[in-house]
Amino acid sequence: MLSFKKFCYGMGFSNSFLIWDDESREAAIIDCGNTAEPIFRFALSEKITVKWVILTHAHYDHVLYMEEYRESFPDAKLAIGMRDEPLLFEVEGNVSYLFGDSRVFDSVDVKLSSGDKILLGESELSVISTPGHTPGSICLYSEADKLMVTGDTLFGGGGIGRTDFKYGDMEIMRISLRRLLSMARWPLEDWIRAEKLILLIKNGETLN
Ligand SMILES: [Fe+2]
Repeated sequence: MLSFKKFCYGMGFSNSFLIWDDESREAAIIDCGNTAEPIFRFALSEKITVKWVILTHAHYDHVLYMEEYRESFPDAKLAIGMRDEPLLFEVEGNVSYLFGDSRVFDSVDVKLSSGDKILLGESELSVISTPGHTPGSICLYSEADKLMVTGDTLFGGGGIGRTDFKYGDMEIMRISLRRLLSMARWPLEDWIRAEKLILLIKNGETLN
């Protein structure tokens, strides 16, 4: 069984999620747009071991503190979708200019592809490739635990990620959203846990 906690106090207002397996206490952190220390302190107090730090995509507000996470969780593997790693190295790709910065970031340890599994004890998160917002955007989900993290592919309030940045593509985004919609097989109330996916179901008709 997976549990999760949301952390959101960064300048970009992007979420970081700590998702852990209740039994083994093994965890993944999703996205690094918030400083690492509160997550580190929470993990320590809950005896949680962070095995993975996963970036849903390469945009600045989701990766800004990745080096801090490397230091706080030195045994964790840092991962991103295969096609987004090059965006880390490019100001226009990681959109740091939008935040008044001109930053480039280092490479990651693992490049993820659709269908890859992130193992946390007996639990797992599956990687779903959802290009559109960026070429290598990914969502992470557990069908068993009815949990999905959607990055900037899908927002609360029914919105979807912008596709007008360099490397964005609205037509490809539509295909990704249809793909997520086709996976909506569990009861509606359960999707509330996923926070964002309920909106996909409500707005599903407009996406087809
Ligand atoms: Fe983004």
